[in-house]
Amino acid sequence: MPQKMQWGQVQRHLAALVPEREAEMRAMETHAQETSFPIVGPAAGHLCYQIARMIGARRVFELGSGYGYSTAWFARAVRDNGGGEVHHVVWDEDLSARARGHLARLGFDGIVRFEVSEAVEALARAEGTFDLIFNDIEKEHYPASLPVIEGKLRPGGVLIVDNALWHGRVFDRADRSKATRGVRELTRRLAGDPGWITSLLPVRDGLLVAMRA
Ligand SMILES: C[S@@+](CC[C@H](N)C(=O)[O-])C[C@H]1O[C@@H](n2cnc3c(N)ncnc32)[C@H](O)[C@@H]1O
Repeated sequence: MPQKMQWGQVQRHLAALVPEREAEMRAMETHAQETSFPIVGPAAGHLCYQIARMIGARRVFELGSGYGYSTAWFARAVRDNGGGEVHHVVWDEDLSARARGHLARLGFDGIVRFEVSEAVEALARAEGTFDLIFNDIEKEHYPASLPVIEGKLRPGGVLIVDNALWHGRVFDRADRSKATRGVRELTRRLAGDPGWITSLLPVRDGLLVAMRA
């Protein structure tokens, strides 16, 4: 009889498989741990890098970019795909400034475009369509972001949404908070729409990976 797998054990195993990162990336991870800032972390970040490489993404738009940790994974993928642009959007000036510093030290300042703004509005204003859109905004606003994303993702493009498990709150029937309802509704809409091919990958806090069919 195999031993029951523990959630933490699985997540540590996934994180341990991620290749070594630059000291700057490590410092960003340490800062998140010390301040409880919710970055995607190495396993989900590396998966984002892998998906962006798999589809040859050259144009990536991030909604809710923080101080640039997830941005760094996408910028690496776009660079390794031959170049392009990654849009870093956050509504906080200070986080945007910190992201500029980190991403410049990583050598990605030529790839990343910075905007201090509400992210869904910024996406609606952005020119052209994107190969990959990453959504990590406040969870109650997930459902309202979907029509804008649908208008900005090219056919065959990929949407990645963080926090699809929402620290287990999606399983708690008593949890009717706006944030939890937002995560549940976006998941239901993506999974139930034949215009999307969607899977929920249980990496860290859950990534919804949805291809625009
Ligand atoms: C979860 S953190 C981002 C972490 C980042 N994606 C990473 O993994 O490194 C989300 C950030 O986006 C900001 N944010 C949330 N909703 C937003 C919105 N609608 N527009 C712009 N920024 C938003 C939050 O204040 C926070 O700084």
